[in-house]
Amino acid sequence: MYIEKINLTNFRNYTKQEINLNKNINILYGNNAQGKTNILEAIYLSGIGKSYRTNKDKELIKENEEFTNIEINFQKKDRNGKIFINISDKKNILVNDIKIKKMSDILGNINIVLFNPDDINIFKEGPSRRRKLLDIMISQLRPAYLYNLNMYLKVLEQRNNYLKQIKYENKTEEMLEIWEIKLAEYAEIINLYRKEFVEKIKEKITKNHEKITKNKEKIKIEYISDFTNKEEFLNKLKNHRKIDIIKGFSGIRHT
Ligand SMILES: Nc1ncnc2c1ncn2[C@@H]1O[C@H](COP(=O)(O)OP(=O)(O)OP(=O)(O)O)[C@@H](O)[C@H]1O
Ligand SMILES: [Mg+2]
Repeated sequence: MYIEKINLTNFRNYTKQEINLNKNINILYGNNAQGKTNILEAIYLSGIGKSYRTNKDKELIKENEEFTNIEINFQKKDRNGKIFINISDKKNILVNDIKIKKMSDILGNINIVLFNPDDINIFKEGPSRRRKLLDIMISQLRPAYLYNLNMYLKVLEQRNNYLKQIKYENKTEEMLEIWEIKLAEYAEIINLYRKEFVEKIKEKITKNHEKITKNKEKIKIEYISDFTNKEEFLNKLKNHRKIDIIKGFSGIRHT
């Protein structure tokens, strides 16, 4: 897959800009604050649907303007395609001229792997950063993954709400089981996808690392998770109920 052309209108520091790229490696160079990273941001936005630098879409609109348009033409092995994003008071996304119904429908068209200087924190920071990286990668390849992840988070929120109701409104504890069974089911699916993905990239990473280090170093990649199986996860949740009720949120988390 490669990006042929980027068209920006009122995006960050660009009023109107067309950028043609070639099939292989493209290097963007220029002065500081010229807008190199802004171009990467536009590409990322077209792949993932949101920026990696800000949660506020409005920041992407050029100062003193009302809207921004980002259009990207790409080529795949079997087809060409177009992503069009318009941001004003709201955000509209068109894939091949058809407006998408949910944000996640943008995924899987332009596949993105972003690496920037901050990414060194993938190793330095805690596991949630690493999970986030996995989530972004897998979601682009397997749309069902994102669905299950979102469902997991939704059910977790519902369990948390109910924990508060037990605490403050004296609701019965037994009802928690409904959400716990669902949580365990989604956790299992998420875990499977993550394991599968790490297995897949393992070989490639090992080979590339050997090349870079001229065989002097060996790299080992493993997905280590507290999750073993559905039943055990369910038990953990049950055993944690008392503490969770006091705290008002789920202490055991999988994502
Ligand atoms: N919403 C906006 N409207 C207008 N200009 C903006 C907006 N957001 C950012 N900019 C401008 O974009 C420029 C920064 O662009 P960018 O971060 O892409 O630079 P860069 O070429 O990557 O620079 P560096 O080499 O320092 O990394 C700044 O001049 C900034 O003021
Ligand atoms: Mg930059």
